[in-house]
Amino acid sequence: MNKIKKLLSFYERGNKISCITAYDASMSKYLDSMGIDIILVGDSLGQVIKGEKSTHNVSLGEITYHTKCVKSGLKNSLLMVDLPKGTFKNKTQALKNSRKFISNGFADLVKLEVNTNNLGIVEYLVSKRIPVCAHIGLLPQTIKTKSGYRKYGKSKKEACVIYNLALELTQIGVDIILLECLESRLARRICNDCSIPVIGIGSGNSLDGQVAVIYDLLGISYNVIDSFITKHTSPLDNQINKFKKQLK
Ligand code: KIV
Repeated sequence: MNKIKKLLSFYERGNKISCITAYDASMSKYLDSMGIDIILVGDSLGQVIKGEKSTHNVSLGEITYHTKCVKSGLKNSLLMVDLPKGTFKNKTQALKNSRKFISNGFADLVKLEVNTNNLGIVEYLVSKRIPVCAHIGLLPQTIKTKSGYRKYGKSKKEACVIYNLALELTQIGVDIILLECLESRLARRICNDCSIPVIGIGSGNSLDGQVAVIYDLLGISYNVIDSFITKHTSPLDNQINKFKKQLK
């Protein structure tokens, strides 16, 4: 059984899915050993690794480099890779770039930010047997100002568009839907009404699984705008303080 089928059967048995980002081999090895279901090489690396304000300048080459690093540490977890901004502008480009990851089992799944404008591209990828995670709600690749970092689906009109998009994506045949920063009642409704795993970040707890950026969990994210963990101390603090004590 391939890893996606295994994950689906895990979900169908009522289990919750865990997904955490990693950008290097040590972290992916650790998360894998902790039984994390999906390791995501996210374009959040623009912020947490490169120290930039957004995900906008992450290149396919950078995602590929970090995917190679992460892949080295993996045994059991499923490997999901973000298609960065500008790398899936049309069907041909999206397929070519997705195949770079999916061919030869390099990665298991590509994730792309989806709105009503690029649904056709997603449908095309699925028709070409590319396993897809559709990321909807807050779409960091399209955000131009800080005000874009907000809860989505609060107004009836916006909620309706996002809800219908999720249903269409399910019909198209994507494997997973990822909700970012969605109003939690809407997120729960989407999760209840879609027959595929719906995981989320900043979208409430009533979903099929949760996503986290590893540096948020460690409390040391470089750029906290896109962070949903409001913790100011890090679990690393004790270790660092112990280390410093040795030097005294
Ligand atoms: O790039 C990323 O890490 C993501 C998560 C925030 C969902 O897309």
